[in-house]
Amino acid sequence: MSEPTTIRWEQDGTGVVTLVLDDPRQSANTMNAAFRDSLTAVADRLEAERDSVRGVIVTSAKKTFFAGGDLRDLSRITPDRAQQAFDSGMRIKRDLRRIETLGKPVVAALNGAALGGGLEIALACHHRVALDNPKAKFGLPEVTLGLLPGGGGVVRTVRLLGITDALLKVLLEGRQYNPARALEAGLVHEVAASEEDMLARARAFIDAHPESRQPWDVKGHRIPGGTPSTPKFAANLPAFPANLRKQLNGAPYPAPRNIMAAAVEGAQVDFETAQVIEARYFTELATGQTAKNMIQAFFFDLQAVNSGAGRPDGPEPRTVRRAAVLGAGMMGAGIAYSCARAGIEVVLKDVTLEAAERGKAYSAELLEKAVARGRTTEAERDALLARITPAADPQALAGCDAVIEAVFENPELKHQVFQEIQDIVEPDALLCSNTSTLPVSLLAEGVKRPEDFIGLHFFSPVDKMPLVEIVKGKRTGEEALARAFDLVRQIRKTPIVVNDSRGFFTSRVIGRFINEGVAMVGEGIDPASVEQAAGQAGYPARVLSLMDELTLTLPRKIREETRRAVEESGGSWEPHPADAVIDRMVDAFGRTGRSGGAGFYDYEDGRRAGLWPGLREHFTRPDAEIPFEDMKERMLFSEALDSVRCLEEGVLTSVADANIGSILGIGFPGWTGGVLQYINGYEGGLPGFVARARELRETYGERFAPPALLLEKAEKGEIFTDGPRG
Ligand code: NAI
Repeated sequence: MSEPTTIRWEQDGTGVVTLVLDDPRQSANTMNAAFRDSLTAVADRLEAERDSVRGVIVTSAKKTFFAGGDLRDLSRITPDRAQQAFDSGMRIKRDLRRIETLGKPVVAALNGAALGGGLEIALACHHRVALDNPKAKFGLPEVTLGLLPGGGGVVRTVRLLGITDALLKVLLEGRQYNPARALEAGLVHEVAASEEDMLARARAFIDAHPESRQPWDVKGHRIPGGTPSTPKFAANLPAFPANLRKQLNGAPYPAPRNIMAAAVEGAQVDFETAQVIEARYFTELATGQTAKNMIQAFFFDLQAVNSGAGRPDGPEPRTVRRAAVLGAGMMGAGIAYSCARAGIEVVLKDVTLEAAERGKAYSAELLEKAVARGRTTEAERDALLARITPAADPQALAGCDAVIEAVFENPELKHQVFQEIQDIVEPDALLCSNTSTLPVSLLAEGVKRPEDFIGLHFFSPVDKMPLVEIVKGKRTGEEALARAFDLVRQIRKTPIVVNDSRGFFTSRVIGRFINEGVAMVGEGIDPASVEQAAGQAGYPARVLSLMDELTLTLPRKIREETRRAVEESGGSWEPHPADAVIDRMVDAFGRTGRSGGAGFYDYEDGRRAGLWPGLREHFTRPDAEIPFEDMKERMLFSEALDSVRCLEEGVLTSVADANIGSILGIGFPGWTGGVLQYINGYEGGLPGFVARARELRETYGERFAPPALLLEKAEKGEIFTDGPRG
C-alpha cells in the first residue's frame, strides 16, 4: 500500500479529526489509486483510534471539494478487467461504509463543488454543510458520461430521497445544484456564509450528536415514498420503464436503464446487498463502449476544444467590449442576446428601427421567462436589456470592436452591409459573418481587410445551442482567428475551428444524414420507419422533420450552386438519390417544408400534424424492406464517412473538433462520442468499420466507399486521435 498522502489527518485537542482531501499530485481530488489507499488507511486508523475520536469533519484543501472518478482510469477499463473494476468499487464502498458506521458523527464540510464521487463521499457523512458559493455545484452527473454513481450514490440517494425523487431529481438527468438548490432538494442540510461558519456548524453538529447514525441505519427506517413492495408505489412502478423508453426513444443509452434497475432492485434489499447490486450495474457500464465514447467526447474532447487547442498561441487574448450585430432576424436577435448576456454592449442593426427593436424584444421575452422561473433577477434582466441598442443608422456602430453579420443569406447583400459599416466601426474591428452556406473566402473579397474577416457560424436557437463553428477563410489572419476564438469563449460557447469549404463541416455533414433519410423514402421505405430509425440510432431530431425545418428548397439551391462550382472546376457531378425525391416533393406536390405549411409532414397552425399520408401513396412500396439495422447505420455511416473526408481535405484539422462539433452542433448521437469516435469505437475497431462500410457500399452505393485516410489508419492499426490520450 502506498503512503496515505491524499487524505490529510488533522487532530485537535478536542477529539475532532479533520480529514483534509488534498491530492498532492493533482489540482483536484479524484478517486484514483492513491485515494483508494488513503481511504482504506483512514478507515483503519479511525477504527483503531475510535475511543479517542469524538467526531470527524471531511473537507478539502482544493478549490473544489472533490472532482469525482478518475476518468482516465475509468476509460481504460476493458471487459477482461471487469472483476478488478468491481473489486475496486466495492473497496471504496466498504471503506466509506466503515466510516459511516463508526458510531461517531461524521460531517462533510463542502467548501466547493462535490460532483459524482465527491457527492458520494458527502452522502456517506451524517451531515452536510455547504459553503454558500454560487459556483459550487452538487450532483451525480455520471449518467452524462454513460455511467452510474458507483460509490454508493444510488443506494444512498434512494434511501435519503426515495426512489422517485432520487431518480428524477438526481440520478437520471445528472442535474447539478448550487448550494441553495441543493438545500431545497435535500442533498445538503445547511448552507454556511463563510468557511469559518461552515466549520463552526460542523463542530456544532458533532457536539450535538455524539452518536450520530445515518437515517437508514436507524431501526425501522423506511425508504421515503415506499418501495416496489409497497402497494401504492407498486401501482406506479410500471410507469418508470415506460417513461424512460419514451424519453430515450429507443436510443442506445444503457446508463439510465442500469441506474433505474440499481435503484429499484436496491430498494428491496438491505444496504449491503444494494451496494453489490449497484457495483454490478456500474461494472457493466464501465466495461462497455458507450461510457468510453461519452467520456472521450464529453470530458476529454470538450476540454481540449474549450481550452484552446484550436487557437493560435501568438496573439494576446482580447475581449470584445462593443459588438455590432447586423440583421435583427432570428439569428441576429439570438446573437445579440448571447453577447449582452456576457456583458458586451451590443448595437443591433436592421434596415428599420422597428425591425431592430423587434430583435431586441426577443431578448426581453427570453428574460421574462428566466425571471418567472427564478433563473435571473429583474435587476439582471434590466441590465442586460440596457446593453442592447437597436439601430437603423450605420453611424450608431461607431466604436464597435467586433461585427457579427446575420442578414439574409445573399452574397451581394452581405458585401453591401459590410461596405456600409467598415469605415464606421473601429479601424481594426473583427469582421464576422454568420453565413451558413456561403464561402467565407468569397465574402471576404468584399471588405477592405480580408485578413480580419472570418466566419462565425452559430446554431439555432442561439441562446440554447452551445456550439459556434469558426470558419477560417483563405485570407483570414492568425490574429483574427485568435480573436474570434476568444469572442466565442467570452460569450461562453464552445468553438470548433474549420477551414472554409462548401457547407464547412457541420452543414455539409448534416446534409448527408438528411439525404440518407430522404433517399430511403425514394426507395419506397415506409417514412414512419425512417423516422423511427433516426430515433433509435439516437438522433435527437427525426430526419424527415429536420428536412421540413430546413425547407426543401434550400438543398436544391445548395445543390445547384455546388454542381455549378464542381463543373466549373472541371470535376464530375454525381447526383444523390435524395435529389429526385426532393424535386418531386417540391415540383409535383408543392410541399416545401414547414415554412411553406406542408412538407414530409402536414402542419396545422404551424404545428406538426403527422406524416403526410401522400408519402405512402406516392412513394412507399410494400416490397421495399431493408434491415432496420441498415437504416440506422446508413445514417450514422454517411455522416462518419463524410467527416473522414473533411479531415482528408483539411476542412477539419482536429478529431476533437469533429466529435464535439457533430454532437453539439448537428445532433450526431451522443452515445457514439461523435462522428470519429463512433468509428474508433465500432465493433472490431477501424477494420470492423471498414468492412461494414464496404457492405453498405455494395448494397446502397458508392457514397459508402471508405476514404483512403480511413483505410490507411485501419491498416496501420491506428485510431482517430489528436495525440496521446487516455
Ligand atoms: P432572418 O430572415 O430571420 O433575418 C435576417 C434579417 O436581416 C432580417 O431582420 C432583415 O430585415 C435583416 N436585413 C436585411 N438586410 C439588411 C441590411 N441591409 N442591414 C441590416 N439588416 C438587414 O434570417 P436568419 O435566419 O436570422 O439568418 C441570418 C443569417 O444567418 C443567414 O446568413 C443565414 O444563412 C444564417 N444562419 C441561419 C441559421 C438558421 O438556422 N436560420 C443558422 C446559422 C446561420
